[in-house]
Amino acid sequence: MPRKVTKAIFPVAGLGTRFLPATKSIPKEIMTLVDRPLIQYAIDEARAAGIKEFIFVTSRGKGALEDYFDNAPVLEQELRKKGKTELLETLKNTNMDSGAIAYIRQHKALGLGHAVWCARRLIANEPFAVILPDDVIAAEKPCLQQMVEAYEETGGSMVAAMEVAPDKAHLYGVLDLDQDMGKIVHVKGMVEKPEPGKAPSSLAVIGRYILSPKVLQNLNRIKSGAGGEIQLTDAIAREIEEGRDVYGYRFDGQRFDCGSKAGFLQATVSFALARPDLRDELAQYLHTVTEHSKAAE
Ligand code: UTP
Repeated sequence: MPRKVTKAIFPVAGLGTRFLPATKSIPKEIMTLVDRPLIQYAIDEARAAGIKEFIFVTSRGKGALEDYFDNAPVLEQELRKKGKTELLETLKNTNMDSGAIAYIRQHKALGLGHAVWCARRLIANEPFAVILPDDVIAAEKPCLQQMVEAYEETGGSMVAAMEVAPDKAHLYGVLDLDQDMGKIVHVKGMVEKPEPGKAPSSLAVIGRYILSPKVLQNLNRIKSGAGGEIQLTDAIAREIEEGRDVYGYRFDGQRFDCGSKAGFLQATVSFALARPDLRDELAQYLHTVTEHSKAAE
């Protein structure tokens, strides 16, 4: 049985340019879906999958992220005094245990692969997960937990995979399939952002990975790839070239690309509609807005 996955890297050092000007002073990962920041969804998913050590790769201007995980004694005291026990509980759930969280700086945004490589000394020689907080996945069983269970059967390295339309494949890393076993696929190659019409399949990689520590060694040797960035996909593809197993996992759930404005808005509506305290009012509002825009056409 492969070694247990207890460490996760959260690369949050990107510039978040698609959300400027907001991201001039707010880290993208602190932006909220309803009332919880994106990063909280990622942390909850990691915890559900058995992750015990949380490694953030950060950059300049991400201080709000570090503050978010700190205790807030004054706020807690105030809520206790006012008897707001439910809110107090919500707040306490955001605290992280001492020593469970580590921050590493990526000094230059050289790409996702480089961000993961920055955490190499904290990973040492064990398998690890990577979670991109701007990919939010609504699922009955959290996506990383599904993957950890599958990984316990397969070992190797594993990426979350999702079917995409042919005209969208050039936006993703795309899998070249060796064997399709249903939920799990064995992969013989990966291409980052293939040219239109040249994608090897319709299965794209999204922001959840379980990786062998060898991927970190590959990252040592990788030069910049698509978009001039050091690509994680290239380091995983090298695993395959060197004869090690890489799998794609077709997860159950709906993925929202919260790094894009449209995806973020869709996630906001979806998560709000799933909330009993907001559902009816929002559904009514959406209905009215849709009727008005139809009438205006
Ligand atoms: P994105 O491709 O979404 O880039 O990164 P970005 O900088 O966050 O956003 P835009 O495109 O400028 O709007 C995917 C993930 O990889 C991290 C990001 O923080 C995000 O979680 N990343 C990317 C890094 O940590 N470092 C990098 O150099 C690049």
